[in-house]
Amino acid sequence: MIDKVLNLIPQKLACFFEKHLKKIPYVRNRIDNEINGFMKDLETSLKPYKDRFQSHTHLPQTPLKRDDIIDQILEMNTMEEDKWKEGYVSGAVYHGNQEHIEFLNKVYAITSQSNPLHSDLWPSAAKYEAEIIEMTAAMLSSKKTDDTICGTVTSGGTESILLAMKTYRDFAKVKRNIKKPELIVPVTAHAAFDKACQYFNIKMKHIPVNEHFQADIDSVKKAVNKNTIAIAGSAPSFPHGTVDPIEEMSAIALEHNIGFHTDACLGGFVLPFAEKLGFNVPLFDFRLKGVTSMSADTHKYGYAAKGTSVVMYRGEELRHFQYYTVTDWPGGLYFSPTFAGSRPGALSAACWASMLSIGEKGYLEATQKIMDTANKIKKGINDIPELHILGKPLWVIAFGAKALNIYRVMDEMAQKGWSLNGLHKPSCIHIAITLRHTREGVSERFVEDLKQAVEIVKTTVDTKNGMAPVYGMAATLPARGIVSDILKKYLDTYYKV
Ligand SMILES: Cc1ncc(COP(=O)(O)O)c(C=O)c1O
Repeated sequence: MIDKVLNLIPQKLACFFEKHLKKIPYVRNRIDNEINGFMKDLETSLKPYKDRFQSHTHLPQTPLKRDDIIDQILEMNTMEEDKWKEGYVSGAVYHGNQEHIEFLNKVYAITSQSNPLHSDLWPSAAKYEAEIIEMTAAMLSSKKTDDTICGTVTSGGTESILLAMKTYRDFAKVKRNIKKPELIVPVTAHAAFDKACQYFNIKMKHIPVNEHFQADIDSVKKAVNKNTIAIAGSAPSFPHGTVDPIEEMSAIALEHNIGFHTDACLGGFVLPFAEKLGFNVPLFDFRLKGVTSMSADTHKYGYAAKGTSVVMYRGEELRHFQYYTVTDWPGGLYFSPTFAGSRPGALSAACWASMLSIGEKGYLEATQKIMDTANKIKKGINDIPELHILGKPLWVIAFGAKALNIYRVMDEMAQKGWSLNGLHKPSCIHIAITLRHTREGVSERFVEDLKQAVEIVKTTVDTKNGMAPVYGMAATLPARGIVSDILKKYLDTYYKV
């Protein structure tokens, strides 16, 4: 109800009303009631095991048997794995071959006690991490520049980005006396950049993208000022899979002597191989002098277990601004390279093992398969007249519809077992092609299901069930505070037993 009213008034006014109306107890209650009702439906899908397994709110008085615990975990795992194993999921599990998983699990089991914080006890962790960074940097052309490219292993893409932005903020404060730091990123850059701005008190300057969903260069130029600490671009972006004009963007950064971060979390382990295979890949890495940092996720297309990524810098001086050291703590001399203190050395060991066991040959083969499958899927989407692909993506394919509710198409695909990503601004959905989709028959099944989903949406009326109304509202509601409240309630639900 409140969303319908707010939708009828202009955005600025709606935000003003929202801010003040929310303070009135009656309105607050109405909003809460609406959100709670809506959450009840989501709770059912988020907590499917509620009536199936015992819930634990206290430690069991007597310990449970290990075998029973393992049985429960196996049961839940079995229920969950079919979907991604059979290639019904966008992104999420990037390799998923059973032998590869067992190999990584074996490495994890051997090294599960390792903690890089205690490098005296586990020098092996230092070896794994140093080599992961060196191999990743080499893949991204570190050997084609005279500068030293260095980095750290982090827990994932978000941490890599947060660390790089904190580094630029601290660097700019010391070197350029910038007290009101600003960051320039296209609207399509990953939310981790916004998170960094919120955490580290950096002003975010979002710039628009052009009709190809790539950062608009003129807007980048106009956004630079004396407080700019860095510019960032994606290779490619999460929503539409398009690579920003990194060459031009990093040249602007170089001209103004500010940092430039290429976010290759998604593409770091695909683009270098796609380029070698002859695909049209624009320059995005350390060959560009203006690129002063990069992130590349080993836990995505590096095919490692979840929980690792690499952040890299041009020069050790920049990396020093990431490190944390304290010299007068009663607990002793303390230093750590990333946000965490203790870290799972086993994940670094498994990451190192993944990279070595796949090798350049394996990554080239995987990339070729992913590109071939993406081409089949792009053709399939292009053959459906009601749909159109956004931009010119390589393997992360976003598509929308002019005359149909694309979120209803997503719901129909969900009915057929598919888990695709809903995006907005503009309304569209995407599929990130992984090795799971390269298996026989998966791309054909996707295209066939998509055709049927479009047909169903065309020929039936909207039932107002599923995620379509949620996305519809989230995409159009001018009062973003209410959408944000809903997301917070969702997280509260996640933590309910
Ligand atoms: C382009 C891009 N950057 C950053 C991230 C964040 O990575 P993570 O989810 O590992 O924190 C993602 C995740 O999909 C991404 O696609």
